[in-house]
Amino acid sequence: MAVEALSEESVAAAVADAQAAFAAAQDLAQLKNARIAHTGDRSPLALANREIGALPPAAKAEAGKRVGQARQAVNQALARRQEVLEAEREERVLAEEAVDVTKDYDRDPVGARHPLTTIQERMADIFVAMGYDVVDGPEVETEWHNFDALNIGPDHPARSMQDTFFVESPDSGVVLRTHTSPVQIRTMLTQEPPIYMVAPGRVFRTDELDATHTPVFSQIEALAIDKGITMAHLKGTLDHFASALFGAGIVTRLRPSYFPFTEPSAELDLQCFVCRGASVGDPDNPCRTCSSEGWIEWGGCGMVNPRVLAACGIDPDVYRGFAFGMGLERTLMFRHGITDMRDMVEGDVRFTRPFGLEV
Ligand code: DAH
Repeated sequence: MAVEALSEESVAAAVADAQAAFAAAQDLAQLKNARIAHTGDRSPLALANREIGALPPAAKAEAGKRVGQARQAVNQALARRQEVLEAEREERVLAEEAVDVTKDYDRDPVGARHPLTTIQERMADIFVAMGYDVVDGPEVETEWHNFDALNIGPDHPARSMQDTFFVESPDSGVVLRTHTSPVQIRTMLTQEPPIYMVAPGRVFRTDELDATHTPVFSQIEALAIDKGITMAHLKGTLDHFASALFGAGIVTRLRPSYFPFTEPSAELDLQCFVCRGASVGDPDNPCRTCSSEGWIEWGGCGMVNPRVLAACGIDPDVYRGFAFGMGLERTLMFRHGITDMRDMVEGDVRFTRPFGLEV
């Protein structure tokens, strides 16, 4: 008994069909369909294999060998085609996903606000929330506003040519302001107390630009003039400012000092907002932000000297005030761990951009 499906011609035809179908497959999906059709349970060779059982024992061996070889040939053809198509896909994916790193940047780079601008606005906002006005003053200032009215006499070292940029000749009486304190004077001259003001702005001193000095830097000045103002108001205001800017509970510390325009005067320290003093006397946990001091020098402050009030036409017997001032670059340096002041003035966007996310 001959079984048609097991004939030499049929088996050879099934092999040839399978090889042709694999060769015709253009991608792996088409190859998968061809594989199912030619090697699956319902493929001609699978069906032929099943017919072997019906053969007389003597014919089984030969038919089995024929079908086995045929299936081997088909599987080899499948594997070869599979390899070729996989390699093609690999190449296509690589080509399609290639990134040309030399191509022009096709987006407009988004600029970033300079951190000095941001911190200035944050500081001013804290005072606006307490009812203070934000005021501006000229950067080119008279010596009288910058020094005399602030009780800085003609012989005061701050007036020497080493610190001050004079505009035109030293006897022109016109300087680049060396601090923001003259804005206090301008405000007191033009406004009736009560006065609550802050003045952020640029100031100028004849320093060489290096890691810790810049001839152009920024300060923020605060002034409160009212009846019955005491140092307790100053301390409370500073503590609130410190908390609002550096974290709840951060306080300030005053150390006796001297400024011509305040009496008494104090240096103003900020409690370290990183270790909060925990690093002091603990060599195992040093603090980089405060050098394990627990406090960071922040600025100067005091009660407005009665002579300054008088120079501005305010009666010191009726009104008192407090004032303070601090450098913004320095504040940014310890706040963000910036080690070189030049980074802040050179205007390189690579420095500014990481701060730009701050609104
Ligand atoms: N003007 C001072 C400076 O540039 C800082 C300062 C100290 C401002 C004490 C103040 C103050 O208002 O009360 O060094």
